[in-house]
Amino acid sequence: MEVLKTVQAVRSFCKEHKNSGKTIGLVPTMGALHEGHISLVKKCKKENNITIVSIFINPEQFNNKNDFRNYPHDIERDLKILKEQNTDCVFVPPEEEIYPAPDYRMFNFGTLDKSMEGAFRPGHFNGVAKVVSRLFQIIEAQRAYFGEKDFQQLAIIKQMVKFINLPVEVRSCPTVRNSDGLAQSSRNALLNPQQRTHASLISKVLFEARDKKDLPVEELKNWVATRINENPFLEVEYFEIADIETLQPVRSWENGNGIIGCIAVKTGNVRLIDNVFFK
Ligand code: PAF
Repeated sequence: MEVLKTVQAVRSFCKEHKNSGKTIGLVPTMGALHEGHISLVKKCKKENNITIVSIFINPEQFNNKNDFRNYPHDIERDLKILKEQNTDCVFVPPEEEIYPAPDYRMFNFGTLDKSMEGAFRPGHFNGVAKVVSRLFQIIEAQRAYFGEKDFQQLAIIKQMVKFINLPVEVRSCPTVRNSDGLAQSSRNALLNPQQRTHASLISKVLFEARDKKDLPVEELKNWVATRINENPFLEVEYFEIADIETLQPVRSWENGNGIIGCIAVKTGNVRLIDNVFFK
């Protein structure tokens, strides 16, 4: 497994493989790898000749400095995991390789970033778009892999790729869960044992909500928030029921496209997100 730190090194790695007719898949990550990431790597390996995983904690996507400072990281552990998965290459750039000059780009995602994470984390998706577009320019993979847990991020990256006309296919993988239902996330490493136990209520309530579509949308939203807020360790930041294409809130179950319920919950200083498909 090659571990490369510079744009020049990863570009020549890619060029060599492309010249010999190989396809390249990219799994962008911020490290602190878990089973969700591993599922992306596995899918990438199945669909491409060469799998590159990038590990870069992107300062541009953190709207909160403490969140950036506290983001979990353990590069040795990550490299061990990736080696076990027979990853071909890990790109671990320092900040100046990704941002050799200040990146002032402003993206416009229309309705996609006006709700949920976009509303509660101003600038977050602009930062995600900066780094992902940069990684796409550097690596020029045929396919790139993202998890459905970050559903809004996935929608935004798909739109960005269309808009900039990048020659990369965005592929997604279902959320991977722990045995008690908690969605796998790098941030789970920040939970203390009590918070970790109570956090399983989030997916439990989301799954119950799936069977309650006899309630009007607004009532179901209140029901979910109330059930979770009853737990003194958990505080709902938002629970939105939205159109899977526009990500705009829906008012009725008769909505033409698919419907997804997306939630953000705080436990102590840790913020967790999850979602469930309603139809
Ligand atoms: O989902 C993540 O880990 C990050 O937002 C991503 C896509 C790697 C960009 O930094």
